[in-house]
Amino acid sequence: MARIAVTDGMAEDAVLLLQQAGHEVVLGTIDAADLANGALGDFDAIIVRSATKLPADVIAVSGDRLSVIARAGVGVDNIDIQAAATAGIPVVNAPRASTQSVVELTIGHLLSSIRHIPRADRGLRDGKWEKKIMKGTELSEKNLGLIGFGRIAQGVGAVAQALGMTVHTYDPYLPPKVAKAQNTTLHKNVETLFSNCTHISIHCNLNDETHHLVNAERLALMPGRSNDGIACGNHIVNCARGGIIDEVALLEALEQGHVASAALDVFETEPVPADALLLQHEHFHGTPHIGAATMEAQARVGRDIAHAVMAVLDGGTSETTVNAHLMS
Ligand code: MLT
Repeated sequence: MARIAVTDGMAEDAVLLLQQAGHEVVLGTIDAADLANGALGDFDAIIVRSATKLPADVIAVSGDRLSVIARAGVGVDNIDIQAAATAGIPVVNAPRASTQSVVELTIGHLLSSIRHIPRADRGLRDGKWEKKIMKGTELSEKNLGLIGFGRIAQGVGAVAQALGMTVHTYDPYLPPKVAKAQNTTLHKNVETLFSNCTHISIHCNLNDETHHLVNAERLALMPGRSNDGIACGNHIVNCARGGIIDEVALLEALEQGHVASAALDVFETEPVPADALLLQHEHFHGTPHIGAATMEAQARVGRDIAHAVMAVLDGGTSETTVNAHLMS
């Protein structure tokens, strides 16, 4: 029987799955100071989402008992996967479980932006009937630029094409044949993606290469006018990770009117402070990192991660180990 810490919550069925296999599940946050003082030494496994941070110093004091770290989700930027590999601890995730939910939220943000849905709703609640100033644009005939072209971006691309958009992508790791099969124009450099697209959605990981990849210079390249001649303005959506967009540059571009709308589900600092200037801008709307927050995605995430953890605890491996290549 293993002792498993679940620090950021998990679907009830997944907790039951672990318990029915005879494991002890300890639910509840462990604060950063306790983690740094070796609190993980009492566990065989830890399952986190994004709130719990597992940097190198926490992993270094976790002791010999900890044999698997699990991320109930996709992004592992809150875990030092190299430090875990050095300590011989596999890090597993659930890369497929939330794809459809994030696709749907991204499309929701795109549509909300171009039809001013959040702004119109705020006006209605203030007793305003602002019909004249709520003239929007269509997605049809516009160029959508996707930064990163993994599972989520491909899903977004397919829906966008069904809505009549032309899809472009920048993904330096993508085999050109994948872009071709998806009827997508693959850009060799991110600048040409920006200069061709009035709508940009982000779908890459956050790392040194992608930090502030969306900056003032690149935003300035966006054309603001679509192929059909409509001055639709420029629109930015991010349901991937905070930190990929330089939020100061984004706010400036909104203030100048060069960016017509920005919709973010993820922020450089989470929770984003309520007085952040970006949140006050009338052409901004956001959600609190809810891409994977659907009943369906959470059920799948929990099930996938419980199986991955149990595979490792049983002495096997999981196909979703993200640091296998770093282990000697
Ligand atoms: C993920 O990486 O799976 C998502 O950002 C969802 C989450 O962290 O809850």
